[in-house]
Amino acid sequence: MIPLSVPNIDGNEWQYVKDCLDTGWISSAGAYVTKFEEAIQNYTGVKYAIACMNGTAGLQVSLNLAGVSSNDIVIAPNLTFVATLNAISYSGAQIALIDVCEDSWQMDIDLLQNWLANNTTTKFVNEKPVTTEIASGKKIGAIMPVYVLGGFIDVDKLVEISATYGIPLIEDSTEALGSFKNGKHAGTFGLTGVLSFNGNKIISTGGGGMILTNDKDIANRAKHITTTAKTDPLDYFHDEVGYNYRLVNVLAAIGVAQMENFESILKRKKEIDALYRSELHGVGDIKFQENDTDSDPNCWLFTFRTKKMRALLNHLNSKEIQSRPFWTPMNNLPMYKDLMYINENDISNKIFKECISIPSSSNLTIDDQYKVISEIKNFYK
Ligand SMILES: Cc1ncc(COP(=O)(O)O)c(C=O)c1O
Repeated sequence: MIPLSVPNIDGNEWQYVKDCLDTGWISSAGAYVTKFEEAIQNYTGVKYAIACMNGTAGLQVSLNLAGVSSNDIVIAPNLTFVATLNAISYSGAQIALIDVCEDSWQMDIDLLQNWLANNTTTKFVNEKPVTTEIASGKKIGAIMPVYVLGGFIDVDKLVEISATYGIPLIEDSTEALGSFKNGKHAGTFGLTGVLSFNGNKIISTGGGGMILTNDKDIANRAKHITTTAKTDPLDYFHDEVGYNYRLVNVLAAIGVAQMENFESILKRKKEIDALYRSELHGVGDIKFQENDTDSDPNCWLFTFRTKKMRALLNHLNSKEIQSRPFWTPMNNLPMYKDLMYINENDISNKIFKECISIPSSSNLTIDDQYKVISEIKNFYK
């Protein structure tokens, strides 16, 4: 079986994990957590990086840091992995879904802008804009864009919207480690951004996440509430309801080793993407995801559109080439089917029915990649 997207464990992972085991530093304290945070800070250029147990937890905590409550509305794209919406659900806030763009498959910012202009009102409280939905009177507590497949949303426009309307931006950049726009890393534009180190991501710690922020107070609070909100190094005094969401040292050790190899992992991802694009261009009705020219995406998971998605999916899987459909759009899931869904042509559902992801692991061999390519070409013959 040629796998879809598996970890590339090719560096000092064994040595650093052994170090944790040999020294007994396997749990919530230990030097690797700080080292991993520093490695992410240095790479992304963000001022503060706070490790946590997974991306979902990072998103949940970010909403708490943004002050989102059950009286608020949080805006998110309809086409995302379910964890984005689950994190919002934990806050109790109402969710408003936005459709995505036909070519980039990313949240449609024009649709968002129109909706805000026609359905909300903005007042100044303590000289800061606060926006509420006219129909419900609920505050718009946050916008949670997603960098689908590590590609870029129009984040510059979102930053402007965030400032005009006073709505914090929490970037679900869980798939976007290594994605830059004009030299700025995904997840460093808003109040916070969140990375994931889940098994299928560009680097993995087995499970893990990282909250990125350039705001010192937010960073301090993120560390505080992800580590049970303990205020004293000795006494068990906790000043609020915190979470035990820290990343353990043994997993951070894997993260440190993965980051040491990150440039070569990223380089392979880009080579794999380039070869698929050149070989599959013009084959059948295949269409690729489009990215803005000023963005440099990480090419995490190669995915394309075809009207024959289901048949191709079955064909490739039957040939031991692991392939996957896209996420079921959120408004098609039972628990999210009644949410407000801002759309004109329900593009999310169209894309979902046509998208297929194919093997893209950074340790995919050239021979295996050519096997995938020739099976796809055979299918369209
Ligand atoms: C878009 C998106 N959001 C959130 C998550 C959640 O991250 P994690 O699995 O680390 O909780 C993931 C990845 O799994 C994801 O792809």
